Amino acid sequence: MADRLAIAMQKGGVGKSITTVNLAGALADKGHNVLAVDADPQGGLTVKLGFKNHYREADKSLFEVLSDQGDMELEDLDELIIQHEEYDIIPAQLRNFNLEKALYTEAGGHNSLKRSLDRMNHDYDYILIDSPPNLGPLSDGALLAARNVVFPSHPNEISQNSIWLLRQEIQTLEKKFDIDISSIGAVLNEVPPNESISNEVRGWFFDVFGESNVFEVADRAVIEHSISYNSSVFGYDPEDAGYPWDTNAMQDMCDTYNLLAQHVEKSL
Ligand SMILES: Nc1ncnc2c1ncn2[C@@H]1O[C@H](COP(=O)(O)OP(=O)(O)OP(=O)(O)O)[C@@H](O)[C@H]1O
Ligand SMILES: [Mg+2]
Repeated sequence: MADRLAIAMQKGGVGKSITTVNLAGALADKGHNVLAVDADPQGGLTVKLGFKNHYREADKSLFEVLSDQGDMELEDLDELIIQHEEYDIIPAQLRNFNLEKALYTEAGGHNSLKRSLDRMNHDYDYILIDSPPNLGPLSDGALLAARNVVFPSHPNEISQNSIWLLRQEIQTLEKKFDIDISSIGAVLNEVPPNESISNEVRGWFFDVFGESNVFEVADRAVIEHSISYNSSVFGYDPEDAGYPWDTNAMQDMCDTYNLLAQHVEKSL
């Protein structure tokens, strides 16, 4: 069975989708068979990878598969898979906002993504789940399905509160469902290129996660450029995209995400 990893943080805009897109790209580039699931009704990952029309118009979605109100079964998850050039994805669809509402009240709603993934026919080495920026049945569902989690954060003090809250939520789920959810590490995202992170902030992350489990990703235009090319930095072609000067930055970013991918390979 595939190893699963949730990329979770209830704070918006900290780099969950960017981490998912590029970590999936790194794992696929290493030859793994990868699926990225967009569990955020806002569809950040889906739109970033170029499936804007799908997000608006697809007639099958996680809503139909996971909610009792939908006309598909948990067994039908394979039908939602679409192919991106680098790896497979289960895209989000606008109706997934209704899914979030439905799962609050449906029996077993929080565990429906897990039960559906358990029934999937298609075999993957890694399944990454991009989570929404709130605490609710979809983010709980991602944690319960994956049981491994990476915390993307900005390198500042405000993020520490969000991390504390998410760790509380994880402990609550562990107790309630009698399971373990492993913290694989933190991604300090959008580190300003010419400013270093304060020793205090970095020290806090090292204390909480362990020094070897903290990864720093610089704030670089190449990230935005690769997304406008609808790919991770691994599928990005700077010449073709019209940014030939991005080649070195792209290589740096690939190195960064390769380190994270190696860590995931080792930890899961
Ligand atoms: N390392 C980076 N360098 C430059 N830009 C970045 C970097 N990481 C993220 N961004 C940009 O920051 C924005 C937010 O990133 P992203 O969408 O991954 O966050 P998110 O946590 O998934 O947000 P949401 O909670 O809204 O889903 C995006 O526009 C993205 O392109
Ligand atoms: Mg996102």
